[in-house]
Amino acid sequence: MNQITIELLTEDDIEQASLLMREVISNTPYYNDAAKNFFRTRLFTAGWIRDQLKQVSGDWRVIYLAAKDGDRIAAVATGWGVPADGVFVWEWLLTSPDYRRQGVGERLGRELETMVKGLGFHKAACDTRTNNTESVPLLEKLGYHRAGELKDHWFHQDFYFWDKLI
Ligand SMILES: CC(C)(COP(=O)(O)OP(=O)(O)OC[C@H]1O[C@@H](n2cnc3c(N)ncnc32)[C@H](O)[C@@H]1OP(=O)(O)O)[C@@H](O)C(=O)NCCC(=O)NCCS
Repeated sequence: MNQITIELLTEDDIEQASLLMREVISNTPYYNDAAKNFFRTRLFTAGWIRDQLKQVSGDWRVIYLAAKDGDRIAAVATGWGVPADGVFVWEWLLTSPDYRRQGVGERLGRELETMVKGLGFHKAACDTRTNNTESVPLLEKLGYHRAGELKDHWFHQDFYFWDKLI
C-alpha cells in the first residue's frame, strides 16, 4: 500500500467511487435486500453522486471525501448540512475490503470531522444498523455518543442513532 491521502472526491473519481460503494453494499451482511437494492440502484449510482456534488451552492455543503492509495480509492465518507444549522449529517463511511482493518476508516472519519468543524459545524450525527459489528465499534472508538435506538426503522431494520460534539 502506498501512502494514503485524504482528498475531496473529484469528477474523475466518481465512477470508481460508485463501483466501490455498490460492491461494498452488495457484500455487506447487515443490509437487507430492500436496502441493498435501494443503495445500489439509487444513492450509489455515479449519476446520483454527480448530481449531489453539483448541488453545492450557497451555504449548503455536500461532502464526499476519499481515502486514496495513488489513483485507487480505498474508502469513502459522505455527508451534508448547513454549517450555521450546526449538525453535519454523516451519511456513509465505507472501506474497500482490500484496505480493511488498516486504520483507513478511522483516519477518514477523523479527517472528515476536522474538515466539517473547520466549516463551522459543531456536531456530527449518524446512524448505524444495530447489528453492524464493524461500524458500531468504530463509532465508539471515534467517541460518538449512542443517543438512542430506533426499532423497525429504515427498511424495517433496527438502528442506533449517534452524535458527537466536534
Ligand atoms: C465499518 C468500516 C468502514 C470500517 O473500516 P476500516 O477501514 O476497516 O476501519 P479501521 O481499520 O479504521 O478500524 C477502526 C476501528 O473500527 C473498529 N472495527 C473496524 N472493523 C472492525 C471489525 N471487523 N470488527 C470489529 N471492529 C472493527 C475497531 O474498533 C477498529 O479499531 P482497532 O483496529 O483498533 O480495533 C468497514 O468495515 C466497512 O466499510 N464496512 C461496510 C460498510 C459499512 O457498514 N459502513 C458503515 C455504515 S453505517
